[in-house]
Amino acid sequence: MKINLANIKKAQKLLNIGECIGIPTETVYGLAGNAYSNQACKKIFKLKKRPMNNPLIVHYYSKKELSKDCNINESFLKLYKKFCPGPITFVLDLKKNTKISKIATNKKKTLAVRFPKHRVTRKLLKVLKFPLAAPSANISSKVSSVCSSDVKEDFGERIKYILEGGKSNIGLESTIIDVRNNPRILRLGGIDVSNIQKVLNKKIIINNNPSKISAPGQHKLHYSPGIPIRMNVKKVKKKEAYILIKKRKTNKSNYFFLSKNGNLKQAAKNLYSILRKIKKNKYKSIAVSRIPNKGMGKTINDRLNRASKF
Ligand code: TXA
Ligand code: MG
Repeated sequence: MKINLANIKKAQKLLNIGECIGIPTETVYGLAGNAYSNQACKKIFKLKKRPMNNPLIVHYYSKKELSKDCNINESFLKLYKKFCPGPITFVLDLKKNTKISKIATNKKKTLAVRFPKHRVTRKLLKVLKFPLAAPSANISSKVSSVCSSDVKEDFGERIKYILEGGKSNIGLESTIIDVRNNPRILRLGGIDVSNIQKVLNKKIIINNNPSKISAPGQHKLHYSPGIPIRMNVKKVKKKEAYILIKKRKTNKSNYFFLSKNGNLKQAAKNLYSILRKIKKNKYKSIAVSRIPNKGMGKTINDRLNRASKF
């Protein structure tokens, strides 16, 4: 996709005056605003109907810009070198003199940061004089957006602009890792934990279902299409939408296939669009056939499990 510089200029102009806009990333679309501006960050919470105690992820062009706001360490550097820009979010300690808005962090002393890979958003981050606070561009607790029309569907005229970037290539949110002490995974996501383990050369704790919530994406109900979901279903009910990992020959209109031949990356990319489509087609419930619990399949199962706690 060729980058349209006029679009980047328009996005830049709006962000400079404290507006919020939709931005593409390789994971999902974000609802972005100036992370140094209380006004912009307040707007993000309001638009998403997000509880104010759920802090925002901040997006940077590179670690050079980040070093003004956060303390970095060896684990961060190893993972940054291997996976960034890419679908990984780090929890780090904020520096005392940071300019990050206290609204964005809910006055926490930590910050979740990410370096998105999408070319269009990288170009935007490069020209801006501030990093972008950008949670997923969806109404709080609902399904994330993987293309500009999803963002439009959720926010309509309430946001002034959506920067076009095509369909998100990964389709599920980033992996979140707290790298401050012993590295801990807080949310499964676009990067397989086994690959993270290889880079750090140690076993990593997965802590995405804690009794004390430190990343509200860990909350039980999340990523929800707003109708009940049953998991690992072999026999679908007549009026249920049925999600299957792999295409089958059938003329049943209630069957939805995540991929052609069972490819888990393909399935991840299609998951949220299919959930939105099922909702639009007015189905009242969803059944999901078993999805292999490996690689991206783990993240797909994590999202569907949370969405099923309806
Ligand atoms: O792929 C992604 O990460 C997308 C794209 C747009 O970058 N963003 C995204 O943002 O998924 P959001 O806000 O929907 O999810 C971010 C998660 C939330 O569950 C939030 O609670 C958690 O990150 N989080 C934010 N700040 C945190 C912090 N300081 N410590 C722990 N978790 C934090
Ligand atoms: Mg979200």
